[in-house]
Amino acid sequence: MQCEGDYFVLVICLSVAIIHAETSCDDCYKFPELFMLGSSTASYQIEGGWNEDGKGVNIWDTLTHDHPELIDDKSNGDIACDSYHKYKEDVQLLKDLGAQFYRFSISWSRILPNGRDNKVNLAGIDYYNRLIDELLANGIEPMVTMYHWDLPQPLQDLGGWPNFILSEYFEDYARVLFTNFGDRVKLWLTFNEPLTFMGGYSSDKDFAPAIKSPGIGDYLAAHTVIYAHSRVYHLYDQLFRTKQRGRVGIALNINWCEPATNSSEDVAACQRYHQFNLGMYAHPIFSTEGDYPAVVKDRIARNSAAQGYTVSRLPLFTPKQVEYIRGTADFLGVNFYTAYYGKAGEAGDSPSMARDTGVITIQDPAWGLSASSWLRVVPWGFRKELNWIAKEYGNPPVFVTENGFSDHGGLNDTGRVHYYTSYLTEMLKAIHEDGCSVIGYAAWSLMDNFEWNRGYTEKFGLYAVDFDDPDRPRTPKESAKLVAEIIRTRQIPERFRED
Ligand SMILES: *[C@@H]1O[C@H](CO)[C@@H](O)[C@H](O)[C@H]1NC(C)=O
Ligand SMILES: *[C@@H]1O[C@H](CO)[C@@H](O)[C@H](O)[C@H]1NC(C)=O
Repeated sequence: MQCEGDYFVLVICLSVAIIHAETSCDDCYKFPELFMLGSSTASYQIEGGWNEDGKGVNIWDTLTHDHPELIDDKSNGDIACDSYHKYKEDVQLLKDLGAQFYRFSISWSRILPNGRDNKVNLAGIDYYNRLIDELLANGIEPMVTMYHWDLPQPLQDLGGWPNFILSEYFEDYARVLFTNFGDRVKLWLTFNEPLTFMGGYSSDKDFAPAIKSPGIGDYLAAHTVIYAHSRVYHLYDQLFRTKQRGRVGIALNINWCEPATNSSEDVAACQRYHQFNLGMYAHPIFSTEGDYPAVVKDRIARNSAAQGYTVSRLPLFTPKQVEYIRGTADFLGVNFYTAYYGKAGEAGDSPSMARDTGVITIQDPAWGLSASSWLRVVPWGFRKELNWIAKEYGNPPVFVTENGFSDHGGLNDTGRVHYYTSYLTEMLKAIHEDGCSVIGYAAWSLMDNFEWNRGYTEKFGLYAVDFDDPDRPRTPKESAKLVAEIIRTRQIPERFRED
């Protein structure tokens, strides 16, 4: 790696250099000098303004309006945190935290109301220009997610992500973003958690658009998304990189899978868990050979044949596409929350990704609870996951794009304080003791917001938002004070250290 060029290259190079220079762990509780600390949100979860100033309808507008019964409290993101109007206040929240960057997402429908680039909504461009300028005026670097699940409804009407033509439309959208914002935005993420939003086409979680096609529609969606990502990376290389000098990555989510026993079956089961959940997206982009992981292709092909399909339910990339996709990221964004024990065995319906994966997952009842059924507190899983990624993909620069904890509210959020201190401690061990090149960390989330099918019942914020008050006032929780202290001192406070 060449340690010259723009700020972000320097961050990666110097972070890695600092890590490798540290032979003894003098202060394992400190963040490397250029490590970036900040917080994240997503457009549909916070913005509101769902039909203002020319914004088009997206699949979460449609799902929450047509099927409120699929949302625990029958709520929606029509107003949410009202960040569409309160963005200046939100930038001040970030400033109070001392955040070095803010990861937010752009609403595709606010920029391109019909999803296509023939009609650009200037009011939408204007909103994000004002947000970006406000951040920069306060010394906060914008990190933009292009797609955080709010697909324009007209594109869903064409079939949504299972329709491969969307890879072209996504590139068109990205071109509009680079053209309008790339002079100031240097950190880009194409997609947030494709693993999660592909579930909208298998619909085990009633995610938008709630199409029920497990083991088929979800794989078609994944296939389009991976290719769409690579198109955007090449677009940046061809038209924007020389001038704008930014970096393009993708945010992938993964849980740690700990083998339930040391049997070779269970160890292999957890490897499959990783390859199906993370490798499906990461292997085509970050591995040296590219393409889907062999175990993923083999198992889906075998199960498809047994089910009477003449071709695999997983579409294949051509050798040309494999080459085109390979290496198309400057860093890997990782969203990490929790862990499972994994055992070999049959799970899920036939067909489904769960059945193809062949892993039974359970959580230890002794692990700490959150307000979310899937989220238990397993800090050691974070370190193991970062090591798995470093080993599997040759220690790429990893930016932790999400990590956080849910509760039911309250300002004295001791559970969240414990979560952040323990997970950050494990992350620092991965950096200092294991040599993983982790370069940044975004706490999820800046404020309580619309938690998808859970509505407003699960709170992830550093700041509380009063959703009963039309002004949506924000109040710092204890965790916000803690994160501000961590960012200011650039270390885990002594009172939270293990020894
Ligand atoms: C598996 O083996 C490792 C290393 O010997 C040990 O630390 C771990 O506790 C074992 N796990 C189980 C579930 O027995
Ligand atoms: C928060 O709760 C903890 C545990 O219940 C308590 O020890 C602490 O004093 C409380 N902090 C504040 C600021 O109220």
